[in-house]
Amino acid sequence: MARKKIALIGAGMIGGTLAHLAAKAEMGDVVLFDIAEGMPQGKALDLSQCGPIEGFDAKITGTNDYADIAGADVVIVTAGVPRKPGMSRDDLLGINLKVMKAVGEGIKNNCPDAFVICITNPLDAMVWALREFSGLPHNKVVGMAGVLDSARFATFLAWEFDTSVKDVNAFVLGGHGDTMVPVLSYSTINGIPVKDMAKIKGVEESRLDEIVDRTRKGGGEIVGLLGNGSAYYAPATSAIAMAKAYLGDQKRVLPCAAYLEGKYDVDGLYVGVPAVIGADGIEGVIEIDLSDEEKNNLQVSVDAVKELLEACKGLDSSLA
Ligand code: LMR
Repeated sequence: MARKKIALIGAGMIGGTLAHLAAKAEMGDVVLFDIAEGMPQGKALDLSQCGPIEGFDAKITGTNDYADIAGADVVIVTAGVPRKPGMSRDDLLGINLKVMKAVGEGIKNNCPDAFVICITNPLDAMVWALREFSGLPHNKVVGMAGVLDSARFATFLAWEFDTSVKDVNAFVLGGHGDTMVPVLSYSTINGIPVKDMAKIKGVEESRLDEIVDRTRKGGGEIVGLLGNGSAYYAPATSAIAMAKAYLGDQKRVLPCAAYLEGKYDVDGLYVGVPAVIGADGIEGVIEIDLSDEEKNNLQVSVDAVKELLEACKGLDSSLA
């Protein structure tokens, strides 16, 4: 069987981390693309030299030419700029939209059969724009954020309840902005609903509210701490989990920004929802029952995404 090919668009901190993780897991050969000359080549050479030490067999190459991503099975897009302290993800819209146009065309011309995972912010708008520019089917283009946001939520819950993260199942719906909706009613610790566990352990409801709030602002917390960039380890790990689900036809149910056509009363938008990822990309979206309050919160988040799409259309007439 031919080796798989993983193309990583953007060789910054997330791109480099992705290349390392993909090579370590021997997911296939890795092509690291960036417009900055020398940078992807240098990172690829450095990472290749980890192979003999770590014992992985993956060819890692760096390039400035989209032609080199030809035939990629998976494309993970991190190209664009990250926010700085004090900025919101939405402040990146204008600059990263232009980047998505070039990336979308590169994908369309070179690997139209790939499964494309977008990480670039503002995520829900960028994944939508990338899909439009690339022309790929909606089920083959997806946004990464739900896995990341849910992992943050799970981490904070595990710390609060002093349990292993392995036993926490938590998930987040909605857009990847401060209006995202961490869903406590579907979050469990080894099957025990978090709210019941809170009663057992004497954790106040106000403490759970603080965890929800910290999750919503989780990306900004890291941006503030780093001072010059945004998170990269957990975003990369999240995208790798999605890529493995696709390549291995794992049918995993992962929260991710999937294209909605009617489910959750949303039409024509990418929004974070639980979705099944297998060999056909997004093979289905799972619609869960929500309380009125959760539905309202989701609506606020969906409205925020809609507003961003309108802004995209205003900035690029080909999207209108
Ligand atoms: C994150 O959530 O870590 C990313 O979206 C980066 C950011 O700007 O917050």
